[in-house]
Amino acid sequence: MSDTNQSGFLEVRNLTLQYKTSGFLVTATHDVSFSVEKGERLILLGPSGCGKSTILKAIGGFIKPSRGSILLNGSEVKKPGFDRSFVFQEFDQLLPWKSALENIVFAIRSTRKISKEDARSEARALLKKVNLQKFADSYPHELSGGMKQRVAIARCLALKSKVILMDEPFASLDALTRQKMQEELLELWNETQFTLVFVTHSIDEAITLGTRIVMLSPHPGEVIEELEVDLSALASSHPEFAALKERISDTLFRNRLDYVI
Ligand SMILES: Nc1ncnc2c1ncn2[C@@H]1O[C@H](COP(=O)(O)OP(=O)(O)O)[C@@H](O)[C@H]1O
Ligand SMILES: [Mg+2]
Repeated sequence: MSDTNQSGFLEVRNLTLQYKTSGFLVTATHDVSFSVEKGERLILLGPSGCGKSTILKAIGGFIKPSRGSILLNGSEVKKPGFDRSFVFQEFDQLLPWKSALENIVFAIRSTRKISKEDARSEARALLKKVNLQKFADSYPHELSGGMKQRVAIARCLALKSKVILMDEPFASLDALTRQKMQEELLELWNETQFTLVFVTHSIDEAITLGTRIVMLSPHPGEVIEELEVDLSALASSHPEFAALKERISDTLFRNRLDYVI
């Protein structure tokens, strides 16, 4: 279906998400709305527990809205599908009994009719894109956390999803690896221009990676402010970067005094 009139490629409208646990209701997000254009890098930024992961799971089709709706390319999201793919924070998202290459081959062949040989050469090209060509035959337990996240990103590209959803994918990495992964992700985006929804609680990461930042309040998450940015080419020491960081910190602090940067 084509885009409807004034809506974005991915439209989150008045989304309230709740968990029912043993008799009581936890409201994870309240009345959250934002839209994502094709090829945008949208960041959901907010403190721990504000419902970022829950929003991503709802976009993934794993959680049904209590109120509101999610539209992808004009169609309501009702269940999971290969048009949306995930990279999670945890490093155990690959099939442990398959090599890096075979993990990607498996993803390709789950979604498309393609010969094993063609899938293998496509997978090899994708591993090269994420600088892992030498580790094609390694198994997940033989790879570092950063390498496993690279395989997970390559797998998303293999699925040719309309939207890639990343839930704090670099949060468990050491600072240097994290920075390297952010640079590589931007390089990949420059080549492929995929639509990205990226969750983080790091203001630096949000500024580095985003074209737009949606700031969420503490639990239950509501949208505080939305900002257009594109400072991805700037170093974090650049005055413009520092000024934006201060502005975002102020906004988040105004809504929660103990926000940890
Ligand atoms: N499976 C669950 N059952 C009940 N409550 C949950 C569940 N998962 C998350 N929550 C609650 O929903 C809120 C939002 O959680 P989450 O989306 O994980 O936040 P974030 O990713 O921003 O840290 C939190 O209060 C959390 O305790
Ligand atoms: Mg989370």
